[in-house]
Amino acid sequence: MHILRFSDLCAQGQVQGQRVFIRADLNVPLDAQGRITEDTRIRASVPCIRMALDAGAAVMVTSHLGRPTEGAFKPEDTLAPVAQRLAELLGCEVPLVANWVDGVRVAPGQVVLLENCRVNKGEKKNAPELAQKMARLCDIYVNDAFGTAHRAEGTTYGIAAYAKVACAGPLLAAEIDALTQALAQPKRPLAAIVAGSKVSTKLTILQSLAAKVDQLIVGGGIANTFMLAAGLPIGKSLAEPALVGDARAVIAAMAARGAQVPIPTDVVTAKAFAADAPATVKKAADVADDDLILDIGPETAARLAAQLTGAGTIVWNGPVGVFEFDAFAHGTETIARAIAASSAFSIAGGGDTLAAIARYGIERDVGYISTGGGAFLEVLEGKLLPAFEILQKRAAG
Ligand code: 3PG
Repeated sequence: MHILRFSDLCAQGQVQGQRVFIRADLNVPLDAQGRITEDTRIRASVPCIRMALDAGAAVMVTSHLGRPTEGAFKPEDTLAPVAQRLAELLGCEVPLVANWVDGVRVAPGQVVLLENCRVNKGEKKNAPELAQKMARLCDIYVNDAFGTAHRAEGTTYGIAAYAKVACAGPLLAAEIDALTQALAQPKRPLAAIVAGSKVSTKLTILQSLAAKVDQLIVGGGIANTFMLAAGLPIGKSLAEPALVGDARAVIAAMAARGAQVPIPTDVVTAKAFAADAPATVKKAADVADDDLILDIGPETAARLAAQLTGAGTIVWNGPVGVFEFDAFAHGTETIARAIAASSAFSIAGGGDTLAAIARYGIERDVGYISTGGGAFLEVLEGKLLPAFEILQKRAAG
């Protein structure tokens, strides 16, 4: 992908004294008291900000937080907790600036955080007047917000069209490089794990991956629909019978290429969806009418782990069972540990997947952990994300 990179501009000495506007994704989870509960995205945004400061720029950073109403700022919309955490991580003051669209005062060597950009009228719909005003604030626009790269909004798309210079920050560039490596020139076999409650939300991903991967491991409610397609009983488990035809088409497309969708041969069931519900391991063919399938069984988990051990590349999105409940966590833990132990290049993304990675402490053993949720999924679908599309257009002149 040909896009201008901020790191190159810095290396060429083109950033000294320039006003740099960085769009980061600092949309982090907060608890009821407004405290940050998970700061991965803030930590991931630090290298770009440091790069800009080290290069002698006057630095403005902004992000959205949540989905506020435009033009109606509420106290819970504030980036104040983010400014505080950013200041700790950078080791310098990070003043928070409100009402910034018409002008920002910041000197070279300083960084300011511009209050929640989604409060500005016109941000969501990418209004040209807003984008033009924001573009006038800077000499260089840097998009480093991979988590928001699938949105064509004022700060992710419009400003990139009007800014004098528009480029990709190191996080945005690293994300696309990692995903390209995983999907475009993968070391084979390429295995993908796609799990989640519904086939319908991930059907286009499954169809797109069916044309590329050697093993398509399905999990969760998605696996139940595939079990139905394979003629297996699933009791009262979550599934989408209307999509059995689509599941069969995915299996057929894979089989035609000599690739496989491994269907569980054993499962862990319960009679109720509860942490303390007694768990029973049974053969997939023996699932009773009143059973709920809440995890893959140990035989299936071991077989999938062996396949992952031999993979060249692994893409992981979604836990294969209800891993929040200990009795139904074995499948996800086995998969997680197999990925960690595998010499394959692995890439993982999505909120639940990141939670599973944290639970099993395998952060260092995964090749690349994406900061994207929806954006990661859209790349897996084979889409060109708006943030990349506009940067490519600008790089082409
Ligand atoms: C995310 O959390 O996935 C990103 O920050 C995008 O947020 P959005 O879905 O509100 O656009």
